[in-house]
Amino acid sequence: MTPSEQTIPREILEFCERCAEGLRGLKNPRDCITYIQKELPLLLRERDLFIGLLQDAVGGHSFLDPRRPTMFDNELVVYVAQDRLFSLRMYLWGPGEFSTPHDHNAWGVLGPLSDGYSVTNYRREDDESRKGYARLTEVEHFTLNQGETTSTLPLKAGIHKTGNPTEETLISLNLYGKSLPRGYINGFELETNRVFPILPPRRKKEYLLFSALVTLKKDAAGPGN
Ligand SMILES: [Fe+2]
Repeated sequence: MTPSEQTIPREILEFCERCAEGLRGLKNPRDCITYIQKELPLLLRERDLFIGLLQDAVGGHSFLDPRRPTMFDNELVVYVAQDRLFSLRMYLWGPGEFSTPHDHNAWGVLGPLSDGYSVTNYRREDDESRKGYARLTEVEHFTLNQGETTSTLPLKAGIHKTGNPTEETLISLNLYGKSLPRGYINGFELETNRVFPILPPRRKKEYLLFSALVTLKKDAAGPGN
């Protein structure tokens, strides 16, 4: 049976339909976050639901499609609402695994299905005028337990690093609002003050082909050629 033949569990579908209804009239990201921070904890506490879902996924009988390309390699798309109003995504964190610090194209609410999800928020200090350069300061660091949530915002208002400092594999469920049409997010290297684009797999090769062409043309135009 292929993933597409499986259907999303009724409880998750009802949750998503409720979110679609609640978000429809809201424009301000902070209002959207407030609404979802009331709803998402209810889903995060449905441990039995997710045990069943993971059992199906482990057996290869889930609506979750591990082959679907995503921005991050630990990401599974759970639900995408009509008109891409929001999406619900599952992230799988092995022991000691963390994201690189990154920004977002949308507001988001995130929380774990078990205890110990680590969140570090950053502020961007530079004026973004130097290409490839970004200076971040850590603003806060905290750990979330099952049912607790935090939020993020688009672009430099929502730079964070999340991950799993525990010795067991952990899942977070993240709900993101409608994306800005940027096509990439920024990743940050704290040690070197480097900022770099993180692209979806399909766009990454196109971007690198274009960038490599720029390099080759520059070399061809240089002295000695
Ligand atoms: Fe994030």
